Amino acid sequence: MTIPATMRAIDPAQPGGPDVLQVVERPVPTPGPGEVLIRIHAAGVNRPDVLQRMGLYPMPPGAPTIMGLEAAGEVVALGEGVSTLAVGDPVTALVAGGGYADYVAAPAVQCLPVPPGMRFAEAATLPETWFTVWANLADLATCKAGESLLVHGGTSGIGVTAIDFAKLFNLQIIVTCGTDAKCKAALELGATHAINYRDGDFAPVVRDLTGGKGVDVVLDMVGGEYFPRNLASLKEGGRHVSIAFQKGNRLELDIAFLMRRRLHVTGSLLRPRSAAEKGTIAEALRTHVWPHFADGTLKPHLFKEFPLDQADDAHRLMESGGHVGKIALTLEA
Ligand SMILES: NC(=O)c1ccc[n+]([C@@H]2O[C@H](COP(=O)([O-])OP(=O)(O)OC[C@H]3O[C@@H](n4cnc5c(N)ncnc54)[C@H](OP(=O)(O)O)[C@@H]3O)[C@@H](O)[C@H]2O)c1
Repeated sequence: MTIPATMRAIDPAQPGGPDVLQVVERPVPTPGPGEVLIRIHAAGVNRPDVLQRMGLYPMPPGAPTIMGLEAAGEVVALGEGVSTLAVGDPVTALVAGGGYADYVAAPAVQCLPVPPGMRFAEAATLPETWFTVWANLADLATCKAGESLLVHGGTSGIGVTAIDFAKLFNLQIIVTCGTDAKCKAALELGATHAINYRDGDFAPVVRDLTGGKGVDVVLDMVGGEYFPRNLASLKEGGRHVSIAFQKGNRLELDIAFLMRRRLHVTGSLLRPRSAAEKGTIAEALRTHVWPHFADGTLKPHLFKEFPLDQADDAHRLMESGGHVGKIALTLEA
């Protein structure tokens, strides 16, 4: 196929509301060494995209300004030294930017196959949340079968992926959500317990649900005043992993509490990590997770898809919090 010189893309000139997400023309990228050029059929929408659009996300140096952290399509060209993929391969890729476009150059090591029978729009929604959940629950928190987990935002893209992770690796998972309907949805997806955080403090409920002990691991995307309540929800020696701080990143902490309960506090950001590190996560996902999409144990959680020129509506939906799972943009020509 002929690769055009220019393409459609969403690359806002300045931060702002959803209205800044207009389709513009940009040059088609050239794949560098170790990269492949993907003709995109669909891109995933993630909360960090909303923060980037608002000008609230510090971009890693060198990341494309075109929005979008994940995309699925077929490989149309190979950069120097790529031998693991071929032109025509259907892939879904984690990218540091550039997904809201017709083409993206992605490191080959960050590409995973589109699982058999899965639509591009569904496959496009897998990388960002699966790479994040794996990096934090498997690698940092070293979750093991039989352990228990507390995850806020139980119906977020991250939350539904954490529920799948817990089901796959035999962990008990307690989630919090902001409505009874979202709690019901999380339970239907396989959460062990779901707490409506608007009904009161979740920490005593978590302690009750765990026989007074607390959970082994908290995966937190809220921060602020949730932090001490998360620590109070952990058992002795428990691990706290931060991936976001929607309620603020500064707080006062009682160091004596950490010491008495021998707690571990850590966190991570996926986007600025090197291609080699992301490639290591991709290999783990290829081995331990992707076969379960092929055998039907795992399913994608695509809530709604929008054409590229309705990316503003996709962001409005995400900001309304009306979704359960993931949102995608489609790029059929
Ligand atoms: N560190 C990393 O590498 C990394 C990578 C990807 C994503 N993230 C972060 O992970 C989070 C989820 O991303 P996503 O794309 O899955 O977003 P999403 O689907 O839009 O979900 C955001 C979630 O935040 C929850 N939330 C907001 N305020 C809350 C509060 N006060 N208490 C409890 N929950 C609250 C919402 O739950 P309710 O609607 O139930 O209130 C919602 O489910 C985002 O903050 C994102 O920035 C971090």
